Amino acid sequence: MSNAKLNASIEACEYVRANIDINSIIGVGTGSTVNYFIEELAKIKTLFKGAVSSSEASSKILTSHGIEVFELNDVNEVNIYIDGADEVDRDKNLIKGGGGAHTREKIVASASNEFICIVDESKMVKSLGAFPLPVEVVIRSRSFVARELVKLGGTPELRHGFKTDHGNQILDITNLTIEDPGELEKQINLIPGVLDNGIFAHCKPNKIIIGKG
Ligand code: A5P
Repeated sequence: MSNAKLNASIEACEYVRANIDINSIIGVGTGSTVNYFIEELAKIKTLFKGAVSSSEASSKILTSHGIEVFELNDVNEVNIYIDGADEVDRDKNLIKGGGGAHTREKIVASASNEFICIVDESKMVKSLGAFPLPVEVVIRSRSFVARELVKLGGTPELRHGFKTDHGNQILDITNLTIEDPGELEKQINLIPGVLDNGIFAHCKPNKIIIGKG
């Protein structure tokens, strides 16, 4: 039980409650902090239409609480997206993907009118990069992508025994110097075979809620 994660989730849910109506669609991220948020969201489930989820794991939890889950393709807009992060810097750049869901998370966050990030204080950093950067790769391209990432100064390691919701693999990259998060995000995504990496510099949260506790 984490009071900090719970408190961030309670505050996020209050914000959601104040900014939605019966037709609203809530975007829901993935991870242990978001799991607390889903518990809170369930308490106000009659006040909005449903959710778009960023992972099969979150979809299951949402459904178990009686919250209807829509495909992103089937909704016209997502009003607010709530998600956690693995690192947050002073400019609101993020590293995400510790749970391997960052590709879909970035899609839903980008499609949403507003992105609220919920974290505990341990996620706040001066600059990104201590947390290994997750990169989702098409399986056949893995070795090639790994060599290209070495050229960028990183040390890639395959996340063994893990497949993403899209059936791909994750390379976790250590030893990267992330001076310009936006530039590195673009550079890595230009490597053929990369679906997306966990830097969120082009899709930053509008608001960070740091839970205390
Ligand atoms: C999932 O892929 C991630 O992006 C999570 O949002 C991130 O790892 C935060 O997870 P926790 O809330 O479990 O720390």
